Amino acid sequence: MNTQMAGKTCIVTGATNGIGEMTAQVLANMGATVVGVGRNRAKCSETATRIKAATGNQAVEFLIADLSVQAQVCKLADEIKSKYARIDVLVNNAGGYFATRQMTSEGIEMTWALNHLNYFLLTDLLLDVIKKSAPARIVNVSSGAHVGARGINFDDTGFAGKYSGWSTYSHSKLANVLFTVELSRRLEGTGVTANALHPGFVATGFGANNSGVMRVGMKIMQRIMARSPEKGAETSIYLASSPEVEGVTGKYFDNKRAVTSSAAAQDADAAKRLWALSKEQTKMK
Ligand SMILES: NC(=O)c1ccc[n+]([C@@H]2O[C@H](COP(=O)([O-])OP(=O)(O)OC[C@H]3O[C@@H](n4cnc5c(N)ncnc54)[C@H](OP(=O)(O)O)[C@@H]3O)[C@@H](O)[C@H]2O)c1
Repeated sequence: MNTQMAGKTCIVTGATNGIGEMTAQVLANMGATVVGVGRNRAKCSETATRIKAATGNQAVEFLIADLSVQAQVCKLADEIKSKYARIDVLVNNAGGYFATRQMTSEGIEMTWALNHLNYFLLTDLLLDVIKKSAPARIVNVSSGAHVGARGINFDDTGFAGKYSGWSTYSHSKLANVLFTVELSRRLEGTGVTANALHPGFVATGFGANNSGVMRVGMKIMQRIMARSPEKGAETSIYLASSPEVEGVTGKYFDNKRAVTSSAAAQDADAAKRLWALSKEQTKMK
């Protein structure tokens, strides 16, 4: 363990597997206080034990929330605020791919609820503490798949009309970049940065929640061409911790370099409109 992040509190969502777990582990190894978020109590406890053993850092705690459910995101935010006076880094990472259309217990299409509204709502609810902790960083794990979406379906974010797993996933990942664009604009002058990233194609549990061709096909492709979770977490960790990106905000990164996102992802008006819609879609909270 080193001390690069000593004294900093880092929240990492979806930290029980894949990119999120590796991000949490490396931040713990840098001496940060790490708060992982997961939905499965046993997995959370096992992962916390594993990270503590691997790093020697005992300041690792996991909190439980199903992040597709807004009521649980709210409860999580309250719990974080009651336990931690500062938040130096928030890594919004939990996400998934759903080959068939599913609804959350609150009646929202699952991909939109988990991959976008969860990032939006958790950030919004923690923003006062994050601002008080400045300089602070928000890191949004998006995907190169965002290029597959030509724009936000403002009239049908849940694809009730015509559902395709990949279109819906790409759309949610475009939302991650647009959310980052508008968030960074709103955070100007606060000392809080917000950046999005593509982790590469990574051998994780991604896609394993599906059945049939998707699940098997994804596993085969991961075996042949994916990078390791260690490599896949590098850009998240870089944005969360590197002095090289101190003050850098509103950018989209790949392989630890700021790169150009799709034209749709740079549409500042769409980003503002998405913010307003997301506020509306989470307003009962
Ligand atoms: N893998 C890739 O090639 C790739 C490429 C581009 C972008 N990404 C993005 O990277 C991020 C991380 O994915 P990954 O590849 O590391 O996948 P993963 O191995 O499946 O990990 C996803 C994490 O999110 C958690 N999660 C899923 N649904 C949740 C829910 N409803 N509530 C709370 N936590 C939940 C999972 O918990 P459980 O352990 O309980 O399942 C797990 O900890 C995602 O945003 C994904 O879109 C991945």
